[in-house]
Amino acid sequence: MSNTSMSENKFYVTTPIYYVTAKPHLGSLYSTLLADVAARWNKLRGKRVFFLTGTDEHGQKVAQAAEQAGKTPKEFVDSFIDAYQTAWHKYELDYDYFIRTTDPEHVKAVQQWLTQLIAKGDIYKSHYTGWYCTSCETFVSDKESETPLSNGQGPACPSCGRVTHAVSEETYFFKLSSYQDALLKFYAQHPDFITPKERLNEVISFVQSGLKDLSISRTTVTWGIPFPNDAAHVAYVWADALNNYITAIGYGQPGKEELFNSWWPADLQILGKDIVRFHAVYWPAFLMASGLSLPKKLLVHGWIKMDKQKMSKSLGNVVDPIDLYNKYGAEPVRYYLMRKMSITHDSDFTIQDLEQTITSDLANDLGNLLNRMVSLADKHGVMEVPQHKIWSETALALRDECFNTIQEYEQFMQDCLYHMALARLWKFVNSVNAYFHAAQPWKMVGNDRDAFMEVISATCHSLRAVAILAWPVMPHKMEEMLGSLGHTFTMQDIIENLELEIWNEHFMLKKIPTLFEKPEPEITSVTQEVLAALEAAAEAPATPAVPDVVIDDVMKMHLLVGTIEQCEEVPKSDKLYKMQVNFGASGMRQILSGIRKHFTPDELIGKQAVFVFNLKPRMMLGLESQGMMLLAEDAEGKLTMTTVARAVPNGTRLR
Ligand code: MSP
Repeated sequence: MSNTSMSENKFYVTTPIYYVTAKPHLGSLYSTLLADVAARWNKLRGKRVFFLTGTDEHGQKVAQAAEQAGKTPKEFVDSFIDAYQTAWHKYELDYDYFIRTTDPEHVKAVQQWLTQLIAKGDIYKSHYTGWYCTSCETFVSDKESETPLSNGQGPACPSCGRVTHAVSEETYFFKLSSYQDALLKFYAQHPDFITPKERLNEVISFVQSGLKDLSISRTTVTWGIPFPNDAAHVAYVWADALNNYITAIGYGQPGKEELFNSWWPADLQILGKDIVRFHAVYWPAFLMASGLSLPKKLLVHGWIKMDKQKMSKSLGNVVDPIDLYNKYGAEPVRYYLMRKMSITHDSDFTIQDLEQTITSDLANDLGNLLNRMVSLADKHGVMEVPQHKIWSETALALRDECFNTIQEYEQFMQDCLYHMALARLWKFVNSVNAYFHAAQPWKMVGNDRDAFMEVISATCHSLRAVAILAWPVMPHKMEEMLGSLGHTFTMQDIIENLELEIWNEHFMLKKIPTLFEKPEPEITSVTQEVLAALEAAAEAPATPAVPDVVIDDVMKMHLLVGTIEQCEEVPKSDKLYKMQVNFGASGMRQILSGIRKHFTPDELIGKQAVFVFNLKPRMMLGLESQGMMLLAEDAEGKLTMTTVARAVPNGTRLR
């Protein structure tokens, strides 16, 4: 193979390397899983793949965390490596190399990189005075922060919002400013450098606003790679860490030039939206200074959030991937993260949504379909499904839908829009379900054997396509599914073959254990309350029978939503309030209610509530009440307002 075709046929994918201050959480799993899916997808397309991940072990943040834990930094980072590697193995993250920035090869290569740039004049020594955010390991200028300075503390970090601290030290600078034009030219020539595109615009405006030289050494931090010939300085953690992408494949290591040239430049670098500047500005500038090509694409993903906040170690709202693995297994969680976390935006994680997705998409839509088809065939003694020769119109329509799915799925996967790819694929799964149900093969078997065999064969072909396409996301489950169809998974050019297939496969069906178990619903405090209520109801004496009403009775009542505009006490009454209620187009009404002991006027004014609008007006202490407010009364007689889940126009009728 020539060098060019070798390099065209390779795929080098990287993840950010993780700060080792704790064990991995769902956010770190997500970044790494994206890379695994990209790697597997490219393997399916017949590419030679190298998948790199690892840990970022130097710097102030790690050193401080180690100190708090009463350990040396090295002892501290060593204590987490096993947790990372175990979690990645459990989740079938099939990386080729796990780099640690404390690896001696990396340390030496970074020192060599620094020596080379110092010699070239791209790094010079001076003095830095400014602000530093330890959590983000970033220098922050005054102009970047909107928070005014106070009490000698630094401005808030524009990325994480934490207070920065003052830094004034001798430092080595990298001449970032001299790469401003080259960077802008590069972005203009490579509009697809960053996915999603909007992120590129942010980067361009940042660079256009003017680049200052970047401090790339620290003297007040000792946990880092010593500067060559100047041991008072250690490399700034980002200058150290970014280089992992090249040192891991042999950069700066004698004898590894060929290896390096066979992988670099990276084809896809995955990163979260919080670290775009480092990867889209500093990293390309470092590479330009070193005379190396730039990565082909950066994939920037959003954050996984819990209760609307970024899931992060410092906020303490992290989900442990191992807990999820123990309860749901690796591949259902992989599917959920790829299907429900929209790569381009932030997404909320909830256990309920995870369980719901596993039940509906995996257990019901896919697992049941396979099971029903194989069981039906088995029941009628059909375990061998020969090539089907002449397809009916309905089966041909399903085959067309299958081909369209393959093409659209491929496009989404190429664009790294994994959530869209899976949504498209599941649309097809639903079409196969609809086809199977509409055909009612269980009715055909006695009188039209050929039609029965066609349905089984068409379903097998469809499921085979689904298994191959979904393999990057759920490799073992999809291999099991193929096994149940009598096929084995082979890697080479498999997608191309799938595209060329004309549905002339032969299948040998085999019953397999349930592919996806429905999760036992999580017992939350809410469900516990419901259970307690059910138990109480079971023990309670039977309530007197409530007479049935017909719908006409219900429709006689006009229940309207209105806003309480005014509320005042009725003189000579210790119970009554007089309220003015706005029913929009149905006008303003005066409504009296005996709720003074239960609410203050402030608790009522401005709120929407539900009222019986057509109750016959009646006089109370000389005042007319033109309706009735609905309230919920508990066993102790405590009242709660009834309202609607979100604001609706005043006068909206309940039906
Ligand atoms: N060490 C640096 C990266 C250096 S790469 C040369 C770093 N580490 S990190 O551990 O803080 O974050 C690593 C990655 O995990 C980032 O891409 C970050 O966006 C991602 N995630 C951390 N929390 C996340 C979520 N809650 N959701 C999704 N990804 C998030 O930055």
